[in-house]
Amino acid sequence: MQNSPIGIFDSGIGGLTIAYSLKKILPNESFIYFGDTKHLPYGEKSEKAIKHYSLKIALFLKSKNCKAIVIACNSASAVAFDHIKKNITDIPIYNVIDPVIEKITEECTSKEIGVIGTKATIESSIYKEKIHQYCNKISVKSHPTPLLAPMIEEGFINQEISKSIITKYLTHYTLKNINSLILGCTHYPLIKNEIIKFYNNKLEVIDSSEIVSQSISKDLKNLN
Ligand code: DGL
Repeated sequence: MQNSPIGIFDSGIGGLTIAYSLKKILPNESFIYFGDTKHLPYGEKSEKAIKHYSLKIALFLKSKNCKAIVIACNSASAVAFDHIKKNITDIPIYNVIDPVIEKITEECTSKEIGVIGTKATIESSIYKEKIHQYCNKISVKSHPTPLLAPMIEEGFINQEISKSIITKYLTHYTLKNINSLILGCTHYPLIKNEIIKFYNNKLEVIDSSEIVSQSISKDLKNLN
């Protein structure tokens, strides 16, 4: 079991941001990565469809002898995590949202945090609900940015078109007074530099890939 791979999945290339960071922290581990590009984008799908695709992939990864599964997709983490955990009980299943919530609520002070993500993630209100379970002083401002994942998947990065779409979304009034911004989609670290540039380097941009992989690596070490 110890030498078995870790299974990671997303709707496309986004989860590679998590895989890359995990590989850096756990260089001796092997990984199986599944990008469900046939059904991308997940963020536009119904809860039922996301649950269906996600469980099928998780079962496939388990059939490949994976010793743990990482749901490297916020949309699937938001709506399908409990469903997968209920159906696969003998190996650890990780999502990409809980470690971020834990990190953010370590310090419970009054501030405004913005969250951007797919429609599925934002409509689930999962960030707001989970943050408020631990800290009521944090005000959570969520805004859906559905074009970003398909845009990144098409390779439109660091171009005029990506700049226009990012600017349009980030100037939305909902995000006007935020102190930091959570990238609530695993595709977004790939445009992190453009987002940082939009804010002239003056806003904290929270990229989940490192937070998530640190937390998973710690847990796997505890499990030996
Ligand atoms: N990378 C994904 C996420 O974190 C999914 C993007 C999509 O397929 O809509 O939500």
